Amino acid sequence: MTDGDGVARAGTRVGAQGAATAKDRKRQHLELVLDGASQHARDAGWGDVHLVPRVLPGCSVAEVDLRTSFLGATLRAPVMIAGMTGGFPDAGHLNATLGEAAAELGLAVGVGSQRVALIDASVRDSFAAVRRHAPDAFVLGNVGACQLIDQDGTPGLTPADLARAVEMVGADALAVHLNVVQELVQPEGDRSFTGLLEGVAGAVAASPVPVVAKETGAGMDRQGATALVASGVAALDVGGLGGTSFARIERDRAAALGDEHAARLGEVFADWGIPTAASVLETRTLGVPVIATGGVRSGLDAARALALGATLVGVGRPAVEAAQRGTAALVRYLEGFLDELRAALVLAGASAAGQLGSPVLSGFTLEWARQRALL
Ligand SMILES: Cc1cc2nc3c(=O)[nH]c(=O)nc-3n(C[C@H](O)[C@H](O)[C@H](O)COP(=O)(O)O)c2cc1C
Repeated sequence: MTDGDGVARAGTRVGAQGAATAKDRKRQHLELVLDGASQHARDAGWGDVHLVPRVLPGCSVAEVDLRTSFLGATLRAPVMIAGMTGGFPDAGHLNATLGEAAAELGLAVGVGSQRVALIDASVRDSFAAVRRHAPDAFVLGNVGACQLIDQDGTPGLTPADLARAVEMVGADALAVHLNVVQELVQPEGDRSFTGLLEGVAGAVAASPVPVVAKETGAGMDRQGATALVASGVAALDVGGLGGTSFARIERDRAAALGDEHAARLGEVFADWGIPTAASVLETRTLGVPVIATGGVRSGLDAARALALGATLVGVGRPAVEAAQRGTAALVRYLEGFLDELRAALVLAGASAAGQLGSPVLSGFTLEWARQRALL
């Protein structure tokens, strides 16, 4: 994910060594997500969100309309393939696969953090592959909020860098990811977090396309999300707890590097954050579209997120896992997901997401909503 490109950053720009390390790290993230214990032990909270089953659905599956407006575009379904990769040789192939599936199904698709490609032009194509294979899809570029501010004397990304990131993938929107837990656990991670909001506001001012503020596994609180909206972001991707945990991934990387201190930090904060369902509750009334990413594992989870007030859901690990087997396998996976979503809508008496009534909440999510005065 975040490159956390803090390596070799003393002085001005990240040097060739830093770029090489960032490439390795991106490959390692992917390997660990696929093979390792990369998923949060706590869940995203979907089991606490109950759609009201209707004995008389009132519509047929064929009548369900999943089309969704998002930042001026119309998607064929309220689903985004989460931004994940780019920056090493195999990533181009993977991004091509993700792009092809998004194009075929009319979904949005993101790329992983592009900083490495702003440093090393030879890996730009591994990001650009998405746009080449999805000429008409809604594509999100990606940079890290921590890389928008000074880190240890290394200046943040410039407006020209952001314009290049957008141009590289023909982005319709630019995701700015927040990943403080990951940076803290990552042995080479960034450590300065003062001024992140100003960094995001600067990106909003400089970006030629709308900015989406995105968390990456720790979720969003209402106060922070309100400030992000005030800074001008056009949408929030809550990136909640449940699903992929970068504290776990960095813990395992640290252990492999023999960094016991970082590995222990990763273990302690392995499940830090606000679950995705609760994060949607925190953010749903702020006047911008909310994307529910983090532990969305079925079309039923997606329907629950939409009923809570999300506009889209984001799917990360399951998409990248299916993509290992090629475009047809990924399309099959996503078609199944969309069938589940249609079934959930019919069973809840809705022919479109907007017709889903308020869900009944239970357990942790209800308690969270009560104590946080979100109901
Ligand atoms: C291999 C991998 C790499 C990722 N890299 C990035 C990244 O570079 N930038 C980013 O904003 N999010 C990144 N993410 C986070 C995803 O966008 C998403 O928020 C996260 O995977 C949660 O969704 P999931 O539980 O469905 O996997 C990455 C996720 C995975 C699985």
